[in-house]
Amino acid sequence: MDFKLRCIDCGAEYPPQEIRCTCDCGGLLDVEHDLDSLREQVSRELFDGRLGDLALPYASGVWRYRELILPVAEGAIVSRPEGNTNLYCSPSLSNWLGVDDLCLKHEGENPTGSFKDRGMTVGVTQAKFLGCQAVACASTGNTSASLAAYAAMGGLLAIVFVPQGQIAFGKLSQALAYGARTLQVRGDFDAAMELVRQVCDELGIYLLNSLNPFRLEGQKSIIFEALQQLGLALSPSKGWEVPDWIVLPAGNLGNTSAFGKALYELKELGLISRMPRLAAVQAQGANPFYRSFLGGFQQRERVEAHTVATAIRIGDPVSYPRAVRALRWTDGLVTEVTDQQIMDAKARVDAAGIGCEPASAAAVAGAKKLVEAGVIGREDKVLVVLTGHLLKDPQATVDYHLEKLAGLTPAYANRPVAIEPTLEAVQEALEGSL
Ligand code: F0G
Repeated sequence: MDFKLRCIDCGAEYPPQEIRCTCDCGGLLDVEHDLDSLREQVSRELFDGRLGDLALPYASGVWRYRELILPVAEGAIVSRPEGNTNLYCSPSLSNWLGVDDLCLKHEGENPTGSFKDRGMTVGVTQAKFLGCQAVACASTGNTSASLAAYAAMGGLLAIVFVPQGQIAFGKLSQALAYGARTLQVRGDFDAAMELVRQVCDELGIYLLNSLNPFRLEGQKSIIFEALQQLGLALSPSKGWEVPDWIVLPAGNLGNTSAFGKALYELKELGLISRMPRLAAVQAQGANPFYRSFLGGFQQRERVEAHTVATAIRIGDPVSYPRAVRALRWTDGLVTEVTDQQIMDAKARVDAAGIGCEPASAAAVAGAKKLVEAGVIGREDKVLVVLTGHLLKDPQATVDYHLEKLAGLTPAYANRPVAIEPTLEAVQEALEGSL
């Protein structure tokens, strides 16, 4: 295999067949590809030629870019297949945000309803290559749903650690349904994360949180696919278009890290000629990365996290150093939004017919805030990544529309109306609507 694992702190190298997620010095690891030899092998045309293939591996929106992800034998891949998610342009949302050129990439359209599937296909494939029998993660819900599904497909035991009472029902039901051993930790996500790291070290279980560098390799494909789609939609002969901004929600900072690495590698390989700027959006009650950003990343901040967007209720993100690097590579920034802004943005995305879960809407709210502050210009081309499906968290949606979310006054509530089963009652209820 022509890649290595390399510590981003001390530079130590490890062979890819070694079972490890961090360096001996405690630093995070990168999958380091040989970019010089890749430069000879890959081109936009190579990847464009694989579009529309119905068989694995290229039917997957991850493995279509396999040279840039993980060089692995075709038969070894565990895939649903994932990716191939749509781009949406919505005039009503563009208007609401105040930009002319807005695209939403809907990662909720992955097989288990979130972007995690793109990382998990690679993580579980690597776990099998390493001969592991059991895989584990701590999760605010989506990672556990995805791990449970891919482990089941790959014939591995999945063990998931979730903060008790703090994950959305759609996600908990998936972990149970796909057969994961589900441990509800009496504590928050950060406590569950610390516990799973210890458990994996002690019990020889393979850790599949985004701490694992192979997960991030899969998540890079969100960027590859989006830029390819943006270009091909504009001009089939030209292909691959770079927006001015890519806006995403930020929790454990795996995606921010993966996006930065994807863009860095594309630029190094000459597949793109300029960098977009990354904007990472946090919930105000779960904003350690935003606080560090305000301090020029002089200090790593940690908080006790609280937000309605449970997916990003994280106070001590594990990929922090990789995410700081991603922002440096892309001249990126971090912003924060309130729960009110998150849920109102979600209502707008939902009412546009697109739909997403609360954490995803944080990115939309963040983009709007940056436009209002004049950081994102009206003429800028903006790509917002929606990370999870509307049905992941039905409780948050229904509570919003019933005006039952504590401390929030919904700006766009769509209240249901109870009626008698009569024509008159229907007419009364619809008065002014028809
Ligand atoms: N959006 C959704 C829907 C998520 O599930 C997550 C993370 C994020 C955004 C943030 O991404 O962690 O890469 O910065 N969910 C993880 C989980 C933590 O356990 O499912 P990140």
